[in-house]
Amino acid sequence: MRPLTIAACLTLGLFAAPAGAQDAAPAAGDPARGHQLTYTCVGCHGIAGYKNAYPNYHVPKIGGQSQTYLVNALVEYRRGTRSHPTMQAQAQGFSDQDIADIAAFLSGLQ
Ligand code: HEC
Repeated sequence: MRPLTIAACLTLGLFAAPAGAQDAAPAAGDPARGHQLTYTCVGCHGIAGYKNAYPNYHVPKIGGQSQTYLVNALVEYRRGTRSHPTMQAQAQGFSDQDIADIAAFLSGLQ
């Protein structure tokens, strides 16, 4: 885990052109789009305002988390630097923009 590197990438993402900024997630996310992307997450994660379909399933709460934390976690799952088969599978299909949108939505909950 290199939170500082990722934070630096996020900051640079504000100024860098979208092309070539492969690893840097865009700083601004669209919460409405993020909402649509998180429908599949709800079954496992007890997001505030949602019913947790699996009360006995131990999963971290992601609603209301800081945006930076959520982006870092998802980017790390996608890269494989944070290891968890389920979440790596989830994050695999996300673009940087998807992750930014998801983080924008989830961090606004609660
Ligand atoms: C099949 C169940 C399942 C689904 C579906 C799922 N997750 Fe997870 N998620 C988990 C588990 C279990 C963990 C804890 C993994 C670990 O220990 O690293 C986790 C961890 C996370 C974390 C890290 C939280 C932390 O506190 O560090 C984030 C962020 C996250 N998930 C986001 C999502 C998003 C966004 C989606 C939907 C696109 C999603 N998850 C879908 C089970 C799931």
